Amino acid sequence: AKDADGAVGKLQIIADPLDATIKRVGRFGWRGTSATVLQQTSAALNSDMGVTSAMYPTHGCGLATDGTACRTADAKGAELSEQDVELIVRYASLLAVPAARHFPGQQPLGTPGDKVTAQTPAQNAAELAAENLMQARVKRGGTLFAAARCVACHTASLTTGEHKFAELRKQVIRPYTDLLLHDMGPELADNYPQGVATGQEWRTAPLWGIGLLKTINANTRYLHDGRARTIEEAVLWHGGQGEKSRERFKALSADDRQQMVDFINSL
Ligand code: HEC
Repeated sequence: AKDADGAVGKLQIIADPLDATIKRVGRFGWRGTSATVLQQTSAALNSDMGVTSAMYPTHGCGLATDGTACRTADAKGAELSEQDVELIVRYASLLAVPAARHFPGQQPLGTPGDKVTAQTPAQNAAELAAENLMQARVKRGGTLFAAARCVACHTASLTTGEHKFAELRKQVIRPYTDLLLHDMGPELADNYPQGVATGQEWRTAPLWGIGLLKTINANTRYLHDGRARTIEEAVLWHGGQGEKSRERFKALSADDRQQMVDFINSL
């Protein structure tokens, strides 16, 4: 509550879809509207793909049209068995986070994202020098990221709690999010309140893995509606509680800004 920049996070609280008297902390989705991987998966199956399951057993049949076919489909019961949903949930829960790159002491070979292609000792030396330079830039970029107080929301490190999978219990993770809602100002608003979030509050976007986005789609897009083409643009859209951090970013020299972007791209 006493954050110097006013970057005060708010918990998303949502009703359990199976028992509305139970309130849960929402953590998944742009506004944290799902409390569990099961809920996020079931909601996505239903509203993104039109597939019903135990948690959301009916389609969003249109009210304006007669919707007969839709309601006939609903009458047949859930389309996906609980067992199959559970397999999807298990798969998604246990997907690994991509390893960070260009941190000091990174193993030069066999690390994802690493490009050691040298054929000769001279090429090898040049690649090592380039890697050392990038490591220095990433290190400084991380210092600048903390100094601009991006970490007020993009929390560098969290420890997980209890989990049914032993490998996910009490783990130090580096998601670069506090999983909380923040008022990001009118320019990022979509004016669509969800749960306890107003139309201009968003859950801090996790930054882990963000640097590998371009490896799956060269046409990168950032922020909840994909309006930002680059990381720099995404930062410049920060308003509201993110304004002070954004102004510190803008005040940096061009090369310092690029070093911060190099750091974010190493995550
Ligand atoms: C007040 C909290 C807050 C602060 C401080 C903050 N951010 Fe964010 N950041 C957010 C939220 C919330 C989003 C998601 C906004 C959206 O999607 O509309 C976000 C999104 C981003 C994204 C885009 C992520 C994606 O996957 O699309 C980047 C990059 C980012 N922030 C970097 C930074 C940097 C760099 C700083 C410091 C200069 C910073 N942020 C400071 C809350 C914050």
